[in-house]
Amino acid sequence: MSKPFKRILYGGDYNPNQWPKEVWDEDMRMFKDARINSATVNVFSWAKIQPAEEVYDFSELDEIIDTLSRENFSVILATATGAMPAWLVKRYPEVSRVDYEGRRHKFGQRHNACPNSPVFQKYAGRLAEKLAERYGNNPHVVCWHISNEYGGECYCENCEKAFRVWLRRKYATLEALNKAWNLEFWGHTVYDWDEIVLPNALSEGIGLHGTAFAGISIDYRRFMSDSLLENYKMERDAIRRFDPDTTITTNLMGTYKGLDYFKWAKEMDVVSWDNYPAYNTPWSVTAMRHDLMRGLKAAPFMLMEQTPSQQNWQPYNSLKKPGQMRAQSYQTIAHGADTIGFFQLRRSVGGCEKFHGAVISHAGTENTRVFREVTQLGKELESLGDTLLGAENRSQVGIIFDWDNYWALEYTSGPTQDLTYVEQLDAYYRYFYEHHISVDMIPTDADFSKYKAVVAPVLYMVKEGVAEALERFVQQGGTLITGFMSGIVDESDNVHLGGYPGPLRRMCGIWAEEIDAIAPGQHNLVRFNDGREYTCDLVCDILHLEGAQPLAHYASDFYAGSPAVTVNTFGQGKVYYVATRLEPDALDIVLDGLTEAAGVQPVIREKTALEVTQRVNENGVFTFVLNFSGVDQPLPAEFAGQRDMLTGSVIGEGTVLKPYDVYLFCRKAD
Ligand code: GLA
Ligand code: ZN
Repeated sequence: MSKPFKRILYGGDYNPNQWPKEVWDEDMRMFKDARINSATVNVFSWAKIQPAEEVYDFSELDEIIDTLSRENFSVILATATGAMPAWLVKRYPEVSRVDYEGRRHKFGQRHNACPNSPVFQKYAGRLAEKLAERYGNNPHVVCWHISNEYGGECYCENCEKAFRVWLRRKYATLEALNKAWNLEFWGHTVYDWDEIVLPNALSEGIGLHGTAFAGISIDYRRFMSDSLLENYKMERDAIRRFDPDTTITTNLMGTYKGLDYFKWAKEMDVVSWDNYPAYNTPWSVTAMRHDLMRGLKAAPFMLMEQTPSQQNWQPYNSLKKPGQMRAQSYQTIAHGADTIGFFQLRRSVGGCEKFHGAVISHAGTENTRVFREVTQLGKELESLGDTLLGAENRSQVGIIFDWDNYWALEYTSGPTQDLTYVEQLDAYYRYFYEHHISVDMIPTDADFSKYKAVVAPVLYMVKEGVAEALERFVQQGGTLITGFMSGIVDESDNVHLGGYPGPLRRMCGIWAEEIDAIAPGQHNLVRFNDGREYTCDLVCDILHLEGAQPLAHYASDFYAGSPAVTVNTFGQGKVYYVATRLEPDALDIVLDGLTEAAGVQPVIREKTALEVTQRVNENGVFTFVLNFSGVDQPLPAEFAGQRDMLTGSVIGEGTVLKPYDVYLFCRKAD
């Protein structure tokens, strides 16, 4: 079990340089009142600690870290490379990015350095090294936070040159590259590496997100993800030269499309991420993101940022209701977090985030609702001590998440522009969430044999070895569910010929001859074998059975009567195929059948609208019971008479959970 920290870190981003020093002492006092024990500092201080090319000035950072260390705070120290100083961009314009339209950006904003600029690499690496040299052996520095929210892309000449090098390494020969990108199409064959141009609006791009050649565009995404990862590794290695063992991370962003986080996580000591749901984000959607972040390393993660109250950058920045931040924090812990951080500890004086929520508001007092709620949570987390640290979430269901597939699926031209990757996974995840079934989000090269059921919707790209691994899993008794837009292309976006779903066809026991697109406002009907009818939309595969049994048929359009949901026995296991987007009640029927066939156990059997989630370690089995339903909910019978770890009280029969109420129960591990 991985336990990078000795206590639950509870704190957040702290940028005291915006205030006079008298305020810092006041901050320390208030943080202690709130039981805050950690602070993330230096995230955007590059310009402060390196005011000119050859000048480094750590005096203020020294003071900040001394102040925090004196008070026994755990410091999460950022390398400050997420926003460049103005002098750097002025002197070396190549450090700023060229955008998709080919425009070189000027100084401004943040998270926008060209990852392939040698100048950027030199100065960022040097900064990380200097910080590590200075603070690497401070015992209060418990974690390094490299840069900030890596992302975006650059289309400059340095990137183009680096892309060619990356391609040479990948393909070795132009013949292999021409074939992989199918450049015979439109006669785009290249005869020299220098003829390759990067895919942006000026070349293969169609509109903002489309491409004439998905092969090159997917490779560019892989290359960009790798380029930014090289930046991360460069800083990490610079730190390691002076600090051999402090935990190193960078804050990720859930299902952010631009970076292959499974690849990134291999280079990170611990995954951390920033959770910013909107006022109307379903709680199952947030739960899925947590599970994905846990899945990256199959280990507990850090919540680096969340707002204690509201954001500023959503269209509507509603307040978190009383109790909501607390419940959201426990949901985060329930799904695998071992730390809770806020953005930020004191609200900014100016800039675009001055309306972003913070632990200490502009009023500067502890006499606020938000501060009181932060304090309540702080006291509870303090009383939990280290009991929960490192606890695992044990799952019998794995949902495949794959960035290559994410990119490829969303680059497809046809059959519909409305098909987006994460939405499809959310639809399946919702079922397991509502049925209290723990889920791991897993990569395509996961060990499937750990699961009873593997869920792989829109597995459009089937890379080498994946179909074989899935076949083995099913043959040995596993249950797999997949469906429309699956098994279609290889890792270069070329079609697996011979009929959809290509390499999945044999185990699915069906052939999808045609794919219909259903336009907005239209729908089709499906009828289950027992006669129940539901709507479906988005796309409809027209199937032929090749050994599978039909569970439902289409009940409208010219393909009425042809199968819409099937199950095939393959070896000792079963494969379900869902040929269209089913309305939720219909998907529930299919997944009820699947969980039953696979023998998947929920955390709790009783029907309840509460979220019930479990973590387990040597100290016990911890069950989190959370009310996100918006209305009162009765406590499930099995918890009556148990002690709530958060309040210490015994929870009696007939107890009702009000919206955002949370209980945490613990029993000895079996
Ligand atoms: C991100 C950044 C922070 C801050 C918050 C605001 O997560 O990492 O610096 O801008 O958003 O929500
Ligand atoms: Zn660039």
